[in-house]
Amino acid sequence: MAKLKIVKDSNPIMRKRSLPVEMPLSKEDRNTLDLMLNYLKKSQDEKYAQKHNIRAGVGLAAIQIGQLKRMFVIYYETEQGPVQYQLVNPQIIESSVRKCALEHGEGCLSVDEEHEGYVHRYHKIKLKAFDALQDKDIIITASGFDAVVLQHEYDHLNGILFYDHIDAKSPFKKLNNEELI
Ligand code: NI
Repeated sequence: MAKLKIVKDSNPIMRKRSLPVEMPLSKEDRNTLDLMLNYLKKSQDEKYAQKHNIRAGVGLAAIQIGQLKRMFVIYYETEQGPVQYQLVNPQIIESSVRKCALEHGEGCLSVDEEHEGYVHRYHKIKLKAFDALQDKDIIITASGFDAVVLQHEYDHLNGILFYDHIDAKSPFKKLNNEELI
């Protein structure tokens, strides 16, 4: 499972716009989403990750395993339990004026180098998608870290990488309406 090969940002495919996934979801696509979710879970198991020389990730888009499809998975643990999704054909339908950025920047399984600086994101978004995990259409209202992760993965579907949002001239300049989290 952890044998999924992660495509790096040096590969031009990472800049392509992924294509809509045909619905109803095929068995093959469901399997792919399961493999992706398992990969994330395993990546967060320190021993396993070390043994297989993989990095911990909280999100993974299909393009990162070489499939040009509009779908991504998310997995991370919180005090309230795990946050996990297998989202297909997501659309951001609302976004706040307020912005936010992770104080310590973002990382990506496809990006080996560090890119320091604030990755400007919407503080709050509403996203609609089909969630294969719940097997239904859902609307997610997310803010703060949850919203950042969703936007990071959503960007992958449009060939955008997190460091595209960093101001090259002043990487640590906070926007007026931006909260650091
Ligand atoms: Ni990424």
